[in-house]
Amino acid sequence: MSEAVRTMMRMDAEAAQEAAAQADAGFLWDFWYPAARSTEIRGQKLVKAMLLEVPLVLGRTSEGKVFAMRDSCPHRGIPLSYGRLDGKVVECCYHGWRFDACSGQCVEIPSLSSQDKLKVERIFAGHYPCEERDGYVWVYMNSPGAKLPETIPAAPALIVFSDKYKITHLSCELPSHIDHGIIGLMDPAHGPFVHQSWFWRKRGSIHEKAKQFEPIPNGFRMSPHSPSTNSAPYQLLKKITGEPVTTTIDFVLPNLRTEIDQSGKMWFSSRATVTPVRRDLCRIDFVAAWNLFFLPVWIFRMFGKTFLRQDQETMIQQAEGLKHNPRLMLIDDADRPAKWYFALKANLIESRRTGGPMVHPMEGPVTLRWRS
Ligand code: FES
Ligand SMILES: [Fe+2]
Repeated sequence: MSEAVRTMMRMDAEAAQEAAAQADAGFLWDFWYPAARSTEIRGQKLVKAMLLEVPLVLGRTSEGKVFAMRDSCPHRGIPLSYGRLDGKVVECCYHGWRFDACSGQCVEIPSLSSQDKLKVERIFAGHYPCEERDGYVWVYMNSPGAKLPETIPAAPALIVFSDKYKITHLSCELPSHIDHGIIGLMDPAHGPFVHQSWFWRKRGSIHEKAKQFEPIPNGFRMSPHSPSTNSAPYQLLKKITGEPVTTTIDFVLPNLRTEIDQSGKMWFSSRATVTPVRRDLCRIDFVAAWNLFFLPVWIFRMFGKTFLRQDQETMIQQAEGLKHNPRLMLIDDADRPAKWYFALKANLIESRRTGGPMVHPMEGPVTLRWRS
């Protein structure tokens, strides 16, 4: 066996190992994840990103279309992000192989002589579907080693209820596995402790709540209800419109939490996604849109940043404890949404493995009670 063949086989074994390691990491493949903000991808810049431990290079063609390639040259693995983009083609910095940015297809190998028979067009750089929505570049993370399905769903879109609205984006990194990021996001019981502030709620205002939940495809919904009486912003909204406020909160796999608040013609719509970057790092991307004339973007950002920082600081502290692999508990009812999340995830993986239908962990609507 030639040395070159042995090297190739070693690389295949490494790829298989990598795929196994990624499967163990508890990631959900075959979904869209936000990789970067649209505004970061401009001109002829090649931008590094990482999703589900896959290094990516993002860019924008001269026609304005965003693209995502694996940040690794198929020739000898150097990150393509060190190369150049000429508006249509990415050129590797090492031996100058050139790849069509939108398909990953190799279009030129400069070292080939007229004698060479290598079929350049059969070589592809790793490449992922990529779409822009709500100010993010979304990348469809196809399972490692699998062929891209014929049809893939559209990337998630924030729901808005009027033509004119304000919109803003916030994000923060958490030194945690995606699962801890997500259950932290849906956990109702930490509010009065972590998010104590004059503008939100006080610890003393803790009281018993009952909320109805219902199953929805790949997730669950906190059924439309009037938000908690100890949250100042909702009370203000009610005072202004003179109409009741209703809130609907959904969680949908792999990582989306959306909240819609409506009162008369006024609305507020937000989405938080927790995206796995590596198994020990995730990122919350938060986008909110509203037509509440009395809420300027800067005020919202000030409060939103405080809120996210409180979660972030808590998760940094939690990560310190989790390093030692403690046994953990999920209790009823406050941690029931977290239990649903784990069950949804496990059932989805199982249904993909068997090809059978996905079993939903909820049989129907249920009421959960907790104090917060
Ligand atoms: S490593 Fe990219 S062209 Fe050789
Ligand atoms: Fe929180």
